[in-house]
Amino acid sequence: MTDGASRRVRSLPPYLFARIDEIKREAAASGTDIIDLGVGDPDLGPPVAVLETLMRGVRENGSHHYSSYAGLSGLREAFAAWFEKRHGIALDPESEILPLLGSKEGIGHISLACLDEGDEVLVPDPGYPVYAAGAVLAGARPVYYPLRREKEFLPDAGELAEMVTPETKMMWLNYPSNPTTAMVNAPLLKRIVEFARERGVRICHDMAYSEITFDGRKALSLMEIPGGKDAGIEFHSLSKTFCMPGWRVGFAVGNAGIIRALAKVKTNLDSGIFIPVQEAAITALTECEDHVQVVRRIFEERRNRFVGGLREAGWEVPVPAATFYVWLPVPRGTDSMEFCTRLLGAAGIVSTPGVGFGAHGEGFIRMSLTLPDDRLDEAIARLRAVQ
Ligand SMILES: Cc1ncc(COP(=O)(O)O)c(C=O)c1O
Repeated sequence: MTDGASRRVRSLPPYLFARIDEIKREAAASGTDIIDLGVGDPDLGPPVAVLETLMRGVRENGSHHYSSYAGLSGLREAFAAWFEKRHGIALDPESEILPLLGSKEGIGHISLACLDEGDEVLVPDPGYPVYAAGAVLAGARPVYYPLRREKEFLPDAGELAEMVTPETKMMWLNYPSNPTTAMVNAPLLKRIVEFARERGVRICHDMAYSEITFDGRKALSLMEIPGGKDAGIEFHSLSKTFCMPGWRVGFAVGNAGIIRALAKVKTNLDSGIFIPVQEAAITALTECEDHVQVVRRIFEERRNRFVGGLREAGWEVPVPAATFYVWLPVPRGTDSMEFCTRLLGAAGIVSTPGVGFGAHGEGFIRMSLTLPDDRLDEAIARLRAVQ
């Protein structure tokens, strides 16, 4: 007898960040002052206007009811307006936008919506673990494509096309990328859209970090590419954009057929977002652009501080183009798990081993800049001592 878990569940590795939580608890229990650069959870809070809308909503009669499955029409319209302003592309709020309980929920469920037993899905390595987990839970097979430093962590379109088999039904892209911090360019995205359409492979583009970009860069939507809306869907999130990770609001946008399939899964499995949270999300999307700019500037300043501090100490640190992570090569002669363990033991610093994001993540660790300056300074000082 097994412990009751299905073959699919048993075949999943433990969720990376759950394991990191365990390691952290063990270190904290021993009295160490831990600096947690492990998990990507923004320390900055949501805009005040968002909090006010939520509180008003909670006090209103009827806020306790179930929402409609498609979410408030005002929320879908607010996202459409935000998206058009941001990317210059009109989306139909009825058929091309679906609110999610955070983008992770949709990222996990899209495989159930679009894949059958035995189908293959192209997944970035290194990448966010949920792409592969969703596929495995749907009985499909993740096939990993490498993201290499010498290619700026971008997929090679030719190599990708060669990996497509008659079973390949879907592929994942994630730019700005967690964990590599890379951004995709229009010519490459165009080439990928062309071959995906030719070969009947649906694209799922994860843009959870769309607004955390630096040095004036602007993240590109799949919907901006000719044929992109037909080729697939894109996931957006308020978690990082408006510092609302615990609120659980995200969106799937794009191909109406795929959106319909995902909505069908969701109507069977969940009952939508708490109505006052949806109202607060409308406030975020319609009134809080200033907040996004402040957050972007803070993360850019932290990036400069951290990368500058470590470089002064002689570390080799690539400059992130986006996200609030730093993707650091580990010193020669060690591996990512060993190096993370060493940083925890010698400096009380929690980081994430690159290998947790896939075999091609080996040789790197990820650090999150989701702590205030004084803690980042302390982290830099401790890291100097480790080298
Ligand atoms: C690449 C990536 N995609 C999606 C998510 C999910 O974000 P949420 O479910 O909060 O929208 C995360 C969260 O860390 C992420 O790193």
